[in-house]
Amino acid sequence: MLIKTLLATLSAASAVFAATPLESGNWVSVNPGFQTQTCAGGSVSGTTFTIPTSPNGSTSGSGCSNGHLRAERRYNNDYSSGVHQFAGTFKINSMGGSRIAIKQTFNGDAGPYFILAVDTGGRLYSVEGGATLATGVANVGSSVTINTVHNADIHSYRVYVNGQLAFRDDNAPGGSFYDKFGAYTTDSGTGPMSITWSDVAFWTRQ
Ligand SMILES: *[C@@H]1O[C@H](CO)[C@@H](O)[C@H](O)[C@H]1NC(C)=O
Repeated sequence: MLIKTLLATLSAASAVFAATPLESGNWVSVNPGFQTQTCAGGSVSGTTFTIPTSPNGSTSGSGCSNGHLRAERRYNNDYSSGVHQFAGTFKINSMGGSRIAIKQTFNGDAGPYFILAVDTGGRLYSVEGGATLATGVANVGSSVTINTVHNADIHSYRVYVNGQLAFRDDNAPGGSFYDKFGAYTTDSGTGPMSITWSDVAFWTRQ
């Protein structure tokens, strides 16, 4: 009886915390594979991504040519049409650095498209263009849920922070896109940081 109650409680809890797609439509869950990219001293353990204070000088490995600190997953969900949604919840375990990219919608044809980064003070901003998405949310120990919705057919891209629309671009470029997340220093950024992602999900709209 106790075990039954516990199991019921656990499944209710996971139902509450499972990632859910935002915006209406028939969202179909997909499970793309991924590759791990670690550069210059970055490391990945499960879904925890860690970068040290400064690069170790190595530029060998996938995505390491610029020598930036990197610990990321690159998902193999490449698309150039259709409607795609990502959801994930991150928690910063520790952060001594600043201006660190944590989630990318990368344009495989033209390079970075949308890069979400965290600055000191828990500010979330867009690296390309500099727009602030939220302030005081990405603090050490706080869970923050990010959803991105990309309608590649009509060049519309939206980012939600904890379910609130925080960024929109109705003039997104064309190209072939894929998702990444983890920790990656921007041109002006420094480590260290440890961040854990959970409840990651991908959908396409039918
Ligand atoms: C630097 O770190 C990377 C992993 O991020 C590792 O593959 C490489 O061996 C390290 N290089 C040195 C010189 O420690």
